[in-house]
Amino acid sequence: MDLTLTPEHEMIRQAARDFAEQEIAPIAAAHDETGQFPAATIQQMGRLGFMGLEIPEEYGGAGLDTLAYVLAMIEICKVDAAHGTIMSVNNSLVCHALYKFGTEAQKQRYLRPVASGQKIGAYSLTEPMSGSDAAAMQSRAVRAGDDYLITGRKSWVTSAPVADYILLFTMTDPAQGARGISAFIIETDQPGFTRGKTEPKLGIRASATSEIVFDGYRCPAANRLGPEGQGFKIAMAVLDAGRIGIAAQALGIAEAAHAASVSYARERQAFGSKIGAFQGIQFKIADMRTRIEAARLLIYQAALAKERSKATGERYTQAASMAKLFASETAMFCAHAAVQIHGGLGYSKELPIERYFRDAKITEIYEGTSEIQRLVIARQELGLR
Ligand code: CAA
Repeated sequence: MDLTLTPEHEMIRQAARDFAEQEIAPIAAAHDETGQFPAATIQQMGRLGFMGLEIPEEYGGAGLDTLAYVLAMIEICKVDAAHGTIMSVNNSLVCHALYKFGTEAQKQRYLRPVASGQKIGAYSLTEPMSGSDAAAMQSRAVRAGDDYLITGRKSWVTSAPVADYILLFTMTDPAQGARGISAFIIETDQPGFTRGKTEPKLGIRASATSEIVFDGYRCPAANRLGPEGQGFKIAMAVLDAGRIGIAAQALGIAEAAHAASVSYARERQAFGSKIGAFQGIQFKIADMRTRIEAARLLIYQAALAKERSKATGERYTQAASMAKLFASETAMFCAHAAVQIHGGLGYSKELPIERYFRDAKITEIYEGTSEIQRLVIARQELGLR
């Protein structure tokens, strides 16, 4: 099996690396400090095709494959995971959902501007009282003629403060549980929609996250994504794609933490030699590299499974969960080791090491915690689903 990248994949990787180093690196620390959404660089990413990498050009995307998406995500996240969060949600939770489940009219109206980066998309599943147990949601959509009237509160919605369109999952038939959930495309400039409190976050601070509130929001039935009652399956299928994106984000953070540690270990002197000469440091560097390469293989495997699924329709749930689980725990491991190797400097805001540490943590939580990933993997393994 040859894992050498094709010239096309090398090209997209290099383009993402150049953009991240030239445009994102100079502003990343400041946006992390203020929590200000990086609107200008996100617009540039849209113009370069990074906001809809896998969507065919006829719908405003770059027409590339999942591996290209993963490679670009890793490079962006090596420099700034917050940009990666915005990119990942737009690509794999919103564009992917609209492309896979949308009608032609929905693709023309919503996918095209989101994939080309002219508009920003968000995905809303979680509620204040339902996170891991996503099907326990309390928000409601009630049919009223050609519309649905939506009421309720959703939380932890990435990009909600800036999103033009939000993919909303809400209950249309509470008696049916998970089978009573439907998906809707929400236009955020319509009455009945407001944004709630913005979350003050530990990491990925430049990505904007808030609650959203529906109070009699009138959503045309034409904006329902997929059949009524199929929303939970759509939400889960889309999260399979999203989890590959978060795995790639985690790998980017891990690589950044590792690279900084190697270069510091080559420079820093202690007890008469470079600290890289000590086994205590060497073992950390070795474990970081080994876990990074293992995570990369799981991510490539999941990306290839997703690519195959475009033709076969086969689920890649387990591959996506394994990649996300292992890569996110690798990011946390590497960021933790990097702070330790850097000592006081790793704890200081003078270097981005403490940012890697703060950013890494969310990858073990959002789009399904590590515990949920283990549950998903085990259920598949045991044939329980
Ligand atoms: N693809 C397609 N269908 C799927 C599926 C998948 N990956 N996973 C489940 N389904 C289907 C099942 O086959 C089942 O279908 P039937 O009704 O025909 O039997 C149906 O969905 C219900 O499935 P389960 O019985 O397994 O549902 P559950 O209630 O036990 O929940 C769960 C399963 C894995 C715990 C799920 O709730 C889950 O993944 N929870 C975590 C949610 C999550 O990741 N939240 C993050 C939200 S996004 C975010 O983080 C914010 C952001 O902005 C980025």
